[in-house]
Amino acid sequence: MSKPTDDVRASNRALALLEYERGNPILRSLPRALFVELTRRCNLSCEMCRTNDPAFNSQTMTASLFDRIARELFPTAELVDLRGWGESLILPDFADRVATVAEYGCEMRVVTNLSFRRPEVLRILARHGAHIGRLDGWCYSGGNVQTSCGLLAQTR
Ligand SMILES: C[S@@+](CC[C@H](N)C(=O)[O-])C[C@H]1O[C@@H](n2cnc3c(N)ncnc32)[C@H](O)[C@@H]1O
Ligand code: SF4
Repeated sequence: MSKPTDDVRASNRALALLEYERGNPILRSLPRALFVELTRRCNLSCEMCRTNDPAFNSQTMTASLFDRIARELFPTAELVDLRGWGESLILPDFADRVATVAEYGCEMRVVTNLSFRRPEVLRILARHGAHIGRLDGWCYSGGNVQTSCGLLAQTR
C-alpha cells in the first residue's frame, strides 16, 4: 500500500467544503472523520450502557470488513476513532488495527475505560501519537460514585 499524500486529504477537504457551501444533497467527498466501532464486547458492565443482551459480546468487526473500510476510506480520512460501543482496547488484534490506521497516516483517537492491563497496547497507541480520551459519564450506582469506566469512590 502506498502511503496517501496530504494532497489527497486536502483535495477531499476542499471538495467537502464546496459541497457543503453548495448544499449538495449527494456528496462526492468522503468522510473526513471516521468512527470505526470495532466491538461491543466489554470487560465492564456499566449500568447506563449495558443490557443483559448476550448479543453484546458476540459483536466484533471482522478483519476483512475493517480492511475494506481501510482501503476505501482511510486514504481520505483525517481522523480515525477506534472506539466501539464496547472496549476496543481489549481485542486481541487491536494492535494490528492501530498499525493499519498509522500506515495510512490518519490521526487516531480512542475512547477507553483504561480498566485492563495491556501496557503494550497503550505503548503502541502512544508510539503512534493517538489521542486517548475519556473524562465523563459520572453516574451514581448502588451507593458507589462511578465514572462509567470504573469505581472511583465508595460513598457509603
Ligand atoms: C460506550 S463507551 C465505549 C468506550 C469505552 N468502553 C469507554 O467506556 O470509554 C463510549 C462513551 O459512551 C458513554 N456512554 C455509555 N453509555 C451511555 C449512554 N447510555 N448514553 C450516553 N453515553 C453513554 C461512555 O461514558 C463513554 O464515554
Ligand atoms: S466500559 Fe464503556 S463500553 Fe464498557 S460498559 Fe462501560 S461505558 Fe459501556
